[in-house]
Amino acid sequence: MKARTFRTWLAHLESTGRLVAIDKKVSLEYEIAAVAKKLDGKKAVYFSNVENYGMPVVSGICSTRDDFAEALETDQYGIIPKFTEAVTSPKACRKVSNQDAPVKENIITENIDLLKTFPIPVHHEMDSGNYITAGLFITRDPVTRKQNVSIHRLQISGKDKLGVLLLPRHTFHLYKQAEEEGRALECAIVVGVDPVTLLASQASTPFGIDELEIASALRSEPLETVRCETVDIDVPAYAEIVLEGKISRKDRLGSSLNITARGVTRKLFS
Ligand SMILES: Cc1cc2nc3c(=O)[nH]c(=O)nc-3n(C[C@H](O)[C@H](O)[C@H](O)COP(=O)(O)O)c2cc1C
Repeated sequence: MKARTFRTWLAHLESTGRLVAIDKKVSLEYEIAAVAKKLDGKKAVYFSNVENYGMPVVSGICSTRDDFAEALETDQYGIIPKFTEAVTSPKACRKVSNQDAPVKENIITENIDLLKTFPIPVHHEMDSGNYITAGLFITRDPVTRKQNVSIHRLQISGKDKLGVLLLPRHTFHLYKQAEEEGRALECAIVVGVDPVTLLASQASTPFGIDELEIASALRSEPLETVRCETVDIDVPAYAEIVLEGKISRKDRLGSSLNITARGVTRKLFS
């Protein structure tokens, strides 16, 4: 399966001439976003030389309907039937140990400094900071043990702090439940996953369906997941980066909430 992991999909884009590698030094401030926008719908971009960082940035890995059809190994007309089948018949993920999970190659649980560690872009001139724009946001219902997956734009607001806007859907419901019970809501933010898992995160399902199990049903083999280090959440084992954290009631600011990061795991680049 071409879209088995983020890296197999990237290799597929490269082998089909749809990945541009930019070695020229680029700034996190606006430049990455500007190039990504220019090539949106045409090519994915691998920025290997991000000013002040040793880590690359990748944009636009799946930006057309055809791309998603290809990742799902179908055509444009097959997307909806395949997706509907997966939503109605989710499949269990396969849990693996830390040794079999590349995302555990580098584990940080102390002195977390998100902006020093990760090249997180400032996208627009009027943005109030650096934003993670396509991270899976995973939480768990402690009663049913089912997880929920969505995407939320996240603003970095401190060394180990992120702000998140939760519109009133499932993640918000889980937060309200935790708030009413006086406990923090644990979460994991997963950056750098295959396009099938990204797509599955956007399923509009009844409450209580785990979108990772939808991703699992869309694949030829179950999605491999691994338990986080500091929170009770399972994440894709082949993800590039996982930020583990919690949302506390005291961190609530109007409609926006603050997440405190507790741990970071990430794959190494060779
Ligand atoms: C790139 C992207 C960014 C998104 N950002 C947000 C956001 O900041 N806040 C939000 O509530 N929903 C956001 N969404 C929409 C949710 O991810 C989407 O509605 C999801 O299905 C909600 O899942 P849930 O019902 O399981 O909570 C975003 C979606 C995408 C694709």
